[in-house]
Amino acid sequence: MSSLLNTETEDFIDWWQHAVFYQIYPRSFKDSNGDGIGDLQGIISKLPYLADTGITATWLSPIFQSPMVDFGYDISDYMAIQTEYGSMSDFEQLVHKASSLGIKIILDFVPNHSSDKHEWFKKSAAREAGYEDFYIWSDGQLDEEGQRQVPNNWQSVFYGSAWEWNEQRQQYYLHQFTKEQPDLNFRNPAVVQAMDDVLLYWLNKGVAGFRIDAVNHLFESESLSDEPLSGKSVDPLSYDYTEHIHTKDLPEVLDMVQHWRQLLDDYTAKHPTGGTRIMMTEAYAGLRELADYYEDANGVRGSHLPFNFNFISNVNGDSDARDFVYNVEKWLIYMPRGHAANWVMGNHDNPRAATRFGTDSVDAMNMLLMTLPGVAVTYNGEELGMQDNLEITWEETVDPPARNAGELDFKKVSRDPARTPFQWSNSKNAGFSSADKTWLPVNANYPELNLESQQLADRSHYKVYKSLIELRKLPVLRRGRFSIEPLSRAVFAFKRTLKDHNTLVTIINVSDEEQLVNLTDFINRPQQLIVEVAGVDSTYEPGQALSSSALALAAHEGLICRLLET
Ligand code: GLC
Repeated sequence: MSSLLNTETEDFIDWWQHAVFYQIYPRSFKDSNGDGIGDLQGIISKLPYLADTGITATWLSPIFQSPMVDFGYDISDYMAIQTEYGSMSDFEQLVHKASSLGIKIILDFVPNHSSDKHEWFKKSAAREAGYEDFYIWSDGQLDEEGQRQVPNNWQSVFYGSAWEWNEQRQQYYLHQFTKEQPDLNFRNPAVVQAMDDVLLYWLNKGVAGFRIDAVNHLFESESLSDEPLSGKSVDPLSYDYTEHIHTKDLPEVLDMVQHWRQLLDDYTAKHPTGGTRIMMTEAYAGLRELADYYEDANGVRGSHLPFNFNFISNVNGDSDARDFVYNVEKWLIYMPRGHAANWVMGNHDNPRAATRFGTDSVDAMNMLLMTLPGVAVTYNGEELGMQDNLEITWEETVDPPARNAGELDFKKVSRDPARTPFQWSNSKNAGFSSADKTWLPVNANYPELNLESQQLADRSHYKVYKSLIELRKLPVLRRGRFSIEPLSRAVFAFKRTLKDHNTLVTIINVSDEEQLVNLTDFINRPQQLIVEVAGVDSTYEPGQALSSSALALAAHEGLICRLLET
């Protein structure tokens, strides 16, 4: 059952290999100028909060100039800051202040598509020399009546055909996301060069790396053939209608990932003082593909951290202990040796952890995230156990796939509930903004659920989270070997062991009932357990001694204990 990492002998861990990466969704983090929208000065004002929490790296969702159709994932100038977020000098200040607090800044890089308002797209639509092939254009087909039809059956991830007619150019263009997000053509070396220039531009501004957006969508089959039907949906306009064999996970994606890795490695070699510049990649893809991003069969390295979404996509509040163990193990089995594992607990595209797993699982899920080997990724607000705002009405809904789904179905796909403003305090708009209206409504639970009250409380999710970050500094969590087991359907446990250090054990009850656990077999012999971290509602206190043979865990309780050598 055990997956052993060869880290015991390694003394040196690079800065990113055991970091907590804190994702900031800038639009909802902190508004400094009262327009109801978060901004860079807002983030700057909260850097001391991050530092105090123990965060050393943050990745920001896009802050670049954008018409905001997909809230920044539609970029009209890759080298400019969105005006409502601030200026370039604000950005420079952000990097500078973050660095003085020991925080690295990672930017979101969105290469698959630009905005249709980008100069490149305008020039491409006008067939301007040098830009003709910047995007994916096609004449489409004529049907039996001589009517123009889209080139094939490809759909947008956000619903509807992936093709849009352009009057000016008299051709269709491809968009895997909204029609305002035309797909760039990565088979064109000029596009690759233009994107390299973007990366170098931001590296020169002092960023520590990039989170690469939707990377597995970068290439499409040149044949533009129809995709086979999946049988999963009867609606031909739904993304689930076909198997995406021509639009996703093409082998060329790996070449691009490796190309960007080389660019980052070259940059690091030339500018070693900034430390390793890293790449984290977003792809909802199979384990084999993700393992290849780390390092392919020939040993060529790509992404430092291909995001592991197992805790988002494959387990939820109904999962049992075996499901959790299986999802942890399978990442470690596929990950090539010598790499850093990573665990993503939440992001701006999925319901929040408190909503997916239940509000009484917040501490246990953060314990899981923080004591597994490798990198932990936290979405802003999840250190407080912020919950989805499920009260957002159709009128208030702004997320494109939700708008596309219509009034009856928008709640099924809307990403707005997980994107509402950060709950700083119990003052107006949860202390997020002084505006009368915020871009998305603040969750009504903010008077009780906010950072300030959790900082003041004796016990709180935030205090648990902070103690977990502190605990992560232990060598046994940085470098310790790892093994995990389901002790029953309800409870799983894992341990971290390192020569000359106390073993740490994390025990989690994922069931709705209290469980009595005997850990003696799992830890090989009867030993005393000393509580290191207990959840908000736990009857246990840090420092308390427990017996390994009869340990009671409340429903959804997690506990981290140190083994006392006897
Ligand atoms: C990624 C982003 C998501 C965005 C999409 C298109 O999945 O995380 O928010 O809508 O790419 O850029």
